[in-house]
Amino acid sequence: MNIDDCINLDDLRVLAKKRIPKIVYDFIEGGVDDENGLARNEDAFRRRSLAPRYMVDISTLDQSTTIFGRTYSSAYGIAPTGGIGNFRRGGDLMLAKAARDANIPFIMSGAATASMEDMARVAPDHGWYQLYTAKNRSISEDQIRRAADLGLHALVVTVDVPVSSNRERNRRNGFGRPLKLSLASKLDALRRPFWFKDYMRHGIAMLENWRTYAPDGADAADVGDFFSTQCPISLTWKDIEQFRKLWPRTLILKGVMRTDDAIRAADAGVDGLIVSNHGARQLDRAVSALDVLPRLDAAVGERMTLMLDGGFRRGSDVLIALASGAKFVFMGRPTLYGAIAGGDAGAAKAVKIVREEMNKVMAQIGCPSLGQLGPDALYWDSDEDRRNTHG
Ligand SMILES: Cc1cc2nc3c(=O)[nH]c(=O)nc-3n(C[C@H](O)[C@H](O)[C@H](O)COP(=O)(O)O)c2cc1C
Repeated sequence: MNIDDCINLDDLRVLAKKRIPKIVYDFIEGGVDDENGLARNEDAFRRRSLAPRYMVDISTLDQSTTIFGRTYSSAYGIAPTGGIGNFRRGGDLMLAKAARDANIPFIMSGAATASMEDMARVAPDHGWYQLYTAKNRSISEDQIRRAADLGLHALVVTVDVPVSSNRERNRRNGFGRPLKLSLASKLDALRRPFWFKDYMRHGIAMLENWRTYAPDGADAADVGDFFSTQCPISLTWKDIEQFRKLWPRTLILKGVMRTDDAIRAADAGVDGLIVSNHGARQLDRAVSALDVLPRLDAAVGERMTLMLDGGFRRGSDVLIALASGAKFVFMGRPTLYGAIAGGDAGAAKAVKIVREEMNKVMAQIGCPSLGQLGPDALYWDSDEDRRNTHG
C-alpha cells in the first residue's frame, strides 16, 4: 500500500505504522494507564448521530470558517504534536506546509523539532505556537516575545500537563530518558529501513525552540535533557494573567475541561479554548472533550471561541462536533500519520481526506454551509446521554 491507495485516515495510520518501529508507533498511538481514554474519545462521536435534511440545494458546499478574525477553508486544523522529527525527519514543516496550502491553521508544538522561525518562513499566516511553560519563566517569556516578533497569529498555552503521565507502553518498551532499547526493539528498528537510515544519519531530532536556552554546545540529547528539567510544571492563573499581558494577539488555552476554569479563563481575557484531554495521553479517566463541550458552551460560549480536539477520525466527526457547539476542531494523530506515511504528500492527503468526507456528509444532511449546522441536526443514542452531557 502507498499513499495513493489510502482512502481514509485509518489507512494512513496503517501505512505509517509500517514505516516506524513499534516503540515509536506506541509512543504516538498510546494513552495512559489502561488506555480507556482512547476508546472514550472515539466513542463520544459514535454515541451521537446526525439527522439528514433532504430537498436542499447542495450544488455548492461551503466549509469556510472564520475564527479570530481570519477565514480558513474549513473548520479543522492540525493540533500540536511534539517530537515529530523523531518519527519523520522534517515532519513539522511538512504539516505546516500542508496547512498553508489548504488554508487551515497548524499549531507548532512547544516540543517541536523545527523552530518557530522556520515555521514563520514556511507558513506565516497559518502557523500558531503552542507554549509549554518552563520552570524558568524567563524562557517562556522569551518564547512569547519570539512568537510575537514573528507576527504569529495565536499563542496556545497547554495547561493539562502538570506532571508527566504514566504511559505504560513507553515504559515497557524502554522508551524514555535515557533510551533503553531491548534487543527485540533494536531488531524491530532494523526492519524499518526508511526510518532507520534517517535515524542513523541524523540521530535524535533537536527541540529547536529550546536550543538557545540550553548550555552552549548542547547537542539534541542535551537539549532534550534540558527541556525535561524545565517541563512539565503546573501552571497557575497568575501565569495566564502574565501571558495575557505579554501576548498581543489571540490567546488560547488548550486542555480546559471544566466550566469554572472556562469562566476564569474568560475573566482573564483569554480569547478561546481548545477543549481537550490531550488525546487521552495525560489522564486516563478524563472525560472526552465532546462530552463536556455543551456545558462549557452554555457557560462561556458567548464570551470565547470554543474549539476541541481528541478522537476525530472521520469528516462526520467534525460535523458532529460543530453541531454540538464547537466553532473549530483540531486533529493530532491522523495528520501526523499522514506525514509519517507519505511526507508532504501524505500530510496533504490527510487534510484532503477530511475535507472530502465532510463534503459528502454536508451534502447528505442537507447542510450547504457549515454556518447552518446546529443542534437540530444532532441526536444522542440515549436520552441519558443527552441529559448527562448538558448537566
Ligand atoms: C505524538 C503526540 C504528541 C503530542 N504532543 C503534544 C504537544 O507537544 N503539545 C500539546 O499541547 N499536545 C500534544 N499532543 C496532543 C495533541 O495536541 C492533541 O490534543 C491530541 O493528539 C488530539 O487527539 P487525537 O490524536 O485523537 O486527534 C500530542 C499528541 C500526540 C499523539
